[in-house]
Amino acid sequence: MSERQYDIVVFGATGFTGGLTAEYLAAHVPEGCRWALAGRSTAKLEAVRERLAAIDPACADLPLLQADVTDAASLRTVAESTRVVVTTVGPYLQYGEPLVAACAEAGTDYVDLCGEPEFVDRMYLAHHETALRTGARLVHACGLDSIPYDLGAYFTVGRLPADGPITVDAQIRADAEFSGGTFSSALTAFSRARHMTAVAKRRRAADPRPADRTIRTPSGPPTRDAETGRWLVPMPTLDPQIVARSAAALPRYGTSFTYRQAAAMKRLTTLVATGAGLGVLAVAAQIPPVRNALGKVRKPGDGPSAQRRARSWFQVRFTGEAAGQRVVTEFAGGDPGYDETAKMMSESAMCLAFDDLPETAGQVTTAVAMGDPLVARLQNAGLRIRVLDE
Ligand SMILES: NC(=O)c1ccc[n+]([C@@H]2O[C@H](COP(=O)([O-])OP(=O)(O)OC[C@H]3O[C@@H](n4cnc5c(N)ncnc54)[C@H](OP(=O)(O)O)[C@@H]3O)[C@@H](O)[C@H]2O)c1
Repeated sequence: MSERQYDIVVFGATGFTGGLTAEYLAAHVPEGCRWALAGRSTAKLEAVRERLAAIDPACADLPLLQADVTDAASLRTVAESTRVVVTTVGPYLQYGEPLVAACAEAGTDYVDLCGEPEFVDRMYLAHHETALRTGARLVHACGLDSIPYDLGAYFTVGRLPADGPITVDAQIRADAEFSGGTFSSALTAFSRARHMTAVAKRRRAADPRPADRTIRTPSGPPTRDAETGRWLVPMPTLDPQIVARSAAALPRYGTSFTYRQAAAMKRLTTLVATGAGLGVLAVAAQIPPVRNALGKVRKPGDGPSAQRRARSWFQVRFTGEAAGQRVVTEFAGGDPGYDETAKMMSESAMCLAFDDLPETAGQVTTAVAMGDPLVARLQNAGLRIRVLDE
């Protein structure tokens, strides 16, 4: 590994989130870090490199690697040239697998921003065994999906007694906008609900939960929080699955662990409007011409402006309980989907490349692969991961 040419390669830097990720790395890579940009268009990569040189003049010499997801040999060259690959080339169901395959084969650590449960399950079934053999760490969901939830639950569990059942309730509040790539990923996921269920079933058979411990992620209809008066709406996201996998892998989550997650909404009208909007989108995504027309609403490469992002924020508030003890924590920050996502993903890549971590391989979560060192990195980078009340 130390003989590899690069420490980190960013694939997708010509896109919206990939561009922000490259900018973050340009400003934060440690002295001596060897990194490069990969993408399908050299002309576009050159334009990104010029932008990065304005942040750090040394970036004017960043190597550019030509690679396309339709060209397996180009991805193999990328995977074999570096210790860690960071990819924002999505929707991952559409474009993601060839790079996961190349990294698993080459023993290269892999980090993405995927929030698509079907993709994560498919990659487990197809590439986990290979990665175990080669030593590659395949870490999906290193952005808003699912770092705040995975590391927030991990941080909360660490502040509770280890004996007896542990419960963690997460409530999310946010004010933000989404990009063309995110909208396209959501449409793809909505159009594949049946496939997602079938693949999840195959994964459960291949990757059973530990027999001697109980791990539950119940959801249900919206309820009202007696303490805050907010409406709590469970969302069908990847996050609870990721938290449950961390709990399954780490004995610190105890013999009986329950995790609930919900979006917290002040007004009933917001709840009804959100439910109706998601319902319409889910139905529309089933009809190909309507799905294609909707896909043009937000174009690839588009995303919220710097001014809009500067006003955006998110907070995930965790209430953990065990053995009669209660702790309230938060994982919070600025623009969740892009500025903070680029930060979370870049810090994950640097954590894998440079930190002293437990030995893991195969498909692993952020809590399992990186745990405390990644929490410390994100705190240093300005995310608020802290105890509010105990
Ligand atoms: N879950 C989260 O927390 C989170 C947050 C943000 C984003 N995301 C996900 O991140 C992904 C990217 O979002 P985005 O808004 O940045 O999208 P985007 O602006 O559309 O960028 C997509 C990138 O993919 C590249 N690409 C497309 N086809 C390719 C191919 N055949 N070979 C090589 N590269 C190819 C594009 O390159 P060109 O420039 O050459 O077209 C571009 O660099 C989406 O899947 C989105 O859902 C997730």
